[in-house]
Amino acid sequence: MSPRSLCANTKRNQNILKISVFALILLILLQYYVMTTTEHRLRVLAIGLRNGNSLANLNATAGTGSKSSRLKTPPFSVLRENGSSVGTTLPLCPVVSPELIGPIHVIKRGPAPWNWLERNLLVEKGGRYKPEGCTSRHRVAIIVPYRDRDDHLRLFLQNMHPFLMRQQLDYGIYIVEQAGRTAFNRAKLFNIGYAESIKDYDWQCFIFHDVDLVPEDDRNIYSCPDHPRHLSVAIDKFRYSLPYDDIFGGASAISREMFEKVNGFSNVFFGWGGEDDDMSTRLRKHNLIITRYPERFARYRMLSHKAAVKNRERHSILTQNLNHSHKDGINSLDYKLKTKEQRPLYTRVLADVISTKVEDDTRWKDNPRLLQLVKEIGSVDLARAYLSSS
Ligand code: UDP
Ligand code: BGC
Ligand code: MN
Repeated sequence: MSPRSLCANTKRNQNILKISVFALILLILLQYYVMTTTEHRLRVLAIGLRNGNSLANLNATAGTGSKSSRLKTPPFSVLRENGSSVGTTLPLCPVVSPELIGPIHVIKRGPAPWNWLERNLLVEKGGRYKPEGCTSRHRVAIIVPYRDRDDHLRLFLQNMHPFLMRQQLDYGIYIVEQAGRTAFNRAKLFNIGYAESIKDYDWQCFIFHDVDLVPEDDRNIYSCPDHPRHLSVAIDKFRYSLPYDDIFGGASAISREMFEKVNGFSNVFFGWGGEDDDMSTRLRKHNLIITRYPERFARYRMLSHKAAVKNRERHSILTQNLNHSHKDGINSLDYKLKTKEQRPLYTRVLADVISTKVEDDTRWKDNPRLLQLVKEIGSVDLARAYLSSS
C-alpha cells in the first residue's frame, strides 16, 4: 500500500470513529430524555386520575398505591439565592407549565380518609414537591392558618397538591395550627408560618391561604410577581365578584422581599376580620399595588362552614394600627412553638399565639377589664390604648 492511500485509510477510520462516538452520545441522551419524560407524564397522569376520583370509586382504588409502589421524586437539591441549583444541571422549567389543564373539577364534599390521601398524593414528607425533569422557577411556601377543620384540610390537600404539581412549583405546604381556645388569630398564624418555614428552606414566595378555598382553574399560577397578588378574586360565596377593591383576604401571594419590607402581618387581630385590611394598608403605605389575575382564572369554591364570631374591635384596631405597623409584625413576633413535624402531606406547626411577653407582664394583673382586653387582643400596649380611648 502506498503511503498516500495508507494516510487516506487512517483518516477515514478516524472519521468513522468520531461519527460512532457522536452517535453513541446522541443515543444515550435520547434514551435519558425518553425515560424521564415518560415517567413524569405517567406520574402526572396518575395524579390527575386520582384527583378525579370520587368516594364512590375510592374503595376500588384504595390500596393500589402502596408506599413501595409510590413513584419517588428525586432528593431535594440545594438552591442558591438566584435560583440556580447546586449539584444538578437540570434546565429551568418552561415559563408556562405544559402540565396545566385549565378548569378543574373541584372535590367539595366527602373528603377521602387520611390513609388514602397519604397513599395517593405523591409528595415528599412535609408536603414538599419539586418537578422532576427541570428546575422550578419558583420556590413557594403555602401557609395555611388552621384550627378544628379536619374535613376542610383533607379536601384542601386533595385538591391542592395535584394543582400545585401541575404548575411545576418547588413548594411546601405549612399548616399552622392555633393551640388552645383563645380567639382565632389568622394573621399571627401567617407570621408564624413565615418564621418557621424560612428555617427549613430558602423560600422566595409566600401564599397565604385559607383552608376552605379551592381554586377552580390551574392557570391561576401560585407564584410571586413584583407586586403582591390577591388570588381569590372570584369566590362562589361572593357570587364570583370582588366584594371591594382593596380586599386582600382569602388567598394572596407576596414575595419574601415585600413581606419583610412591610413587616409582615399585624399580630393583634384576634377573632374574625380586619387583619387582611390591615395588610392592604401596609402595602399601600409602601407603594405596593395589589395585582389580580382575570376573574375567569382566579375562581374559587369556598367549602361550607358556619360564620365565625366577628371581632367587634377590628375597626378601631385598624385605625390605631395605621401608625403602628413598623412595630407590630414580624419584628415583634412572639409565640410559643408547641410542635413542628413533617407529616406525609404537610408540615404541621402547632403554636400558642399568646405572646410570652403578655404572660410575663404583671402590669395588668390588678385590672380585670385590662386583663380581658389583653387576652382578646394579645398586646398590653394596644389594650391600654383602647382603655384610654374608650
Ligand atoms: N380558620 C380555622 N379555624 C377556625 C377559624 C378560621 O381553621 O376556627 C382558618 C381557616 O383557614 C379559614 C380561615 O381561617 O378558612 C378564615 O376563617 P373563615 O373561613 O371562618 O372566614 P371567612 O373568610 O369565611 O369569612
Ligand atoms: C373584613 C375582612 C374580610 C372581608 C370579606 C371585611 O369586612 O374586614 O377581614 O376579608 O370583609 O369577608
Ligand atoms: Mn371561609
